[in-house]
Amino acid sequence: MKFSNTLLLGNILSVLSTLSKADQCTFSGGNYYCSETDAIIYSNVGTSSSYQDVTSMDENTCACSSSAKTFSGNLAPLNEELSVHFRGPINLVQFGVYFPAEGSNSVSNLKKRQLEKIAEEECKTTAQKPKHQHKRDVAVQVVEVTATVFVNADGQSITPVGDINVDGVLTTSVNANIQNGAATTTTLQNIVSSYTQVSTILNTNTKATAAAAASSAAASSSSSSSSSSGSSAAVAGSWQRASYFTPGSTSNCTFMNHQGGTAGSGVWSSCFGNSISFAASDGISGAASAQALGDVTVQSGKEFMIFSGQECGDNDASCGYSRDGIPAYHGFGGDDKIFVFEFSMPSDTSGSASNQDMPAVWLLNAKIPRTLQYGDASCSCWKTGCGEMDLFEILTAGSDKLISHVHDAQDGGTQDYFKRPVDGTLKAAVIFNSQDNTIHIVEVSEDFGDVLSEDTVNSWLSISGSSAALP
Ligand SMILES: *[C@@H]1O[C@H](CO)[C@@H](O)[C@H](O)[C@H]1NC(C)=O
Repeated sequence: MKFSNTLLLGNILSVLSTLSKADQCTFSGGNYYCSETDAIIYSNVGTSSSYQDVTSMDENTCACSSSAKTFSGNLAPLNEELSVHFRGPINLVQFGVYFPAEGSNSVSNLKKRQLEKIAEEECKTTAQKPKHQHKRDVAVQVVEVTATVFVNADGQSITPVGDINVDGVLTTSVNANIQNGAATTTTLQNIVSSYTQVSTILNTNTKATAAAAASSAAASSSSSSSSSSGSSAAVAGSWQRASYFTPGSTSNCTFMNHQGGTAGSGVWSSCFGNSISFAASDGISGAASAQALGDVTVQSGKEFMIFSGQECGDNDASCGYSRDGIPAYHGFGGDDKIFVFEFSMPSDTSGSASNQDMPAVWLLNAKIPRTLQYGDASCSCWKTGCGEMDLFEILTAGSDKLISHVHDAQDGGTQDYFKRPVDGTLKAAVIFNSQDNTIHIVEVSEDFGDVLSEDTVNSWLSISGSSAALP
């Protein structure tokens, strides 16, 4: 988790006081939660900016050097290679990565698809297919504001110091879901007075369909609508599975954790601690060579990650600099990609107090773990916005609400949540769609076979849910 803009508290309060309408949301354990959802649709993903790309890690001085790397284009920087991270308690049952099959999403395919679509539209009469209805049935316009504040006990804005490169350390998400400005202002002041460091994440996000529904509701009192349209540019062609895991079996993926130097892979140094290493089948120990994770529930607070099965070559530009002595593997890159997951997150209050019973699944720019995931912030590109996307994250111990958030040069998300699969499993797909710069996180029920058909993927893209427009 990280901070983005730093705003003075006063600015936030004045913004909040101008806002008037919102969802019913609850405040719990320092975070706002709104509606349960089965889909979160990020739009306007991708920006042009730069991050500090690590170029060396000096074991004598414990210092790291970096140079600015610019990026731009569809979904940037999340179009770069990503590694996939997990924190227990979690039992991972399936994981896979798909890319467009040869010729899919090609210009000619898309042209053909557009022509077909135009023909379809022309054939249609006034009868519209009913849209997949979201659970919410009240038309509301949600206005949120993105900002982060760090304040001292007196409520004065401060610049954060120290190590922020640990999930959750500085973050108290305060999402303003505003019934009325005054109440929210009071709430925020209460929060501010009880925390020394407050990270406020409020998202500027006018939900398009809801707004349209609100205006038509003004004309006709009977009208109501779901919170978001699931409309997204269609993909053309099928998707091929490139990496896959089921317990005890991997194809083109590599399980790692942070046991460098303990069991025959990776390194330990006094400067940078334990590097990443191959993970043993228990997910927790290190291993000398790659192993498939077993059918295990990885304990509360323990973390593992997945890279592809493809090793980084020497001077491999897409991998960039890696810490000496680590097993360095490629992540999952590209503008168009689909991650699929099936997992359970049973309750587990054993183990250390740190991150206890706070399971999570998230994506990082794969350069981060190959340099330094936890430690001196100048030793990875994380702090300068090379990319983190939280897909399913429990924010307070024992919570059953999984939150998603993007932290990179853009910052945003929604306080709508997926239900934590305490019993049973959650099956989900995360679709990176460069056709319209969206990322869809959707609960699904289909099988994760060798190939995902165009129809399957387009049906996933059409699932309505909660929108999260990035700034
Ligand atoms: C293995 O994964 C990498 C990274 O996603 C990909 O580039 C490569 O094509 C995959 N290999 C196969 C055989 O699918």
